Amino acid sequence: MGCAMSGLGLVAKPAGDMKDEDVVVANLSQEQTEMIKESWKVIQEDIAKVGIIMFVRLFETHPECKDVFFLFRDVEDLERLRTSKELRAHGLRVMSFIEKTVARLDQMERLDQLALDLGKAHYRYNAPPKYYSYVGVEFIRAVQPILKEKWTAELEEAWKDLFLYVTRIMKKGYLLEERDQHSNTIEPSKEKPDKKNTRL
Ligand code: HEM
Repeated sequence: MGCAMSGLGLVAKPAGDMKDEDVVVANLSQEQTEMIKESWKVIQEDIAKVGIIMFVRLFETHPECKDVFFLFRDVEDLERLRTSKELRAHGLRVMSFIEKTVARLDQMERLDQLALDLGKAHYRYNAPPKYYSYVGVEFIRAVQPILKEKWTAELEEAWKDLFLYVTRIMKKGYLLEERDQHSNTIEPSKEKPDKKNTRL
C-alpha cells in the first residue's frame, strides 16, 4: 500500500528557506493509521498505568534522562516513583499528547504544529533530541502486554513509524527554538558598536 499522507516538518519555517533534508514525510499507510486508532481504544483505558511504566523504565534504562527532570533527578529509588503523584501527572501529560497525535492522524498539518511546538518546549526544558527515540521504545514495551494477542509485528511497525515521525518533527522544533534563542542573544552584542558610535 502506498503512502496515504505526508506532512511537512517545518511549518514555521519560511518555504524559501526550506532544504530537502528539512522535510519530514509521514510514511504511514491508511492501514497503519487505522491499526493505530484501533489499538489506541484499548491503550487509553490504561493511560495512567502506561505513562508511569514508560517513565520508570526510561529512567532505569537511561538514567541520564532522569537528570533532566528537576522533580525526579534526586530520586534514587525508582520503585518510589511508581506511586509518585508527580510522575503520574507527567505520564498523563505525555499520554494525552499521544492521544492528540492519534486524533490528528487525518489532519497532518495540525499534528505537525503540535509536535513542532512540543519540540520547542523541550528546548526550554533542556531535553535534547538524542533522547527522544527512547520514549517510543518504552511506550511499545509498556503497551504490548495490554494488547495481548492483538499485538502484531505490523502494529509494532506502525507505532514505530508514528514515533519516528513525531520525534523528527520535535527535533526540528527543538533546533528552531535553539536557533531563535541564539539569534536573540547574539543581537544585542551586534548593536554595541553602533551604540558606542552614537556616544562618540
Ligand atoms: C517522544 C518523546 C517525548 C514526548 C512525546 C514528550 C512529551 C512531553 C509532554 C506532552 C510534556 C508536557 C508539556 C507541557 O505540559 O508543556 C513534556 C514535558 C517534559 N518533557 Fe517530554 N516528551 C518526550 C521526550 C522527553 C525526554 C526524552 C525527556 C528527557 C530526557 C523529556 C523531558 C521533559 C521535561 C523535563 C518536561 C517538563 C516537565 C515538567 O516541567 O513538568 N521529554 N514532554
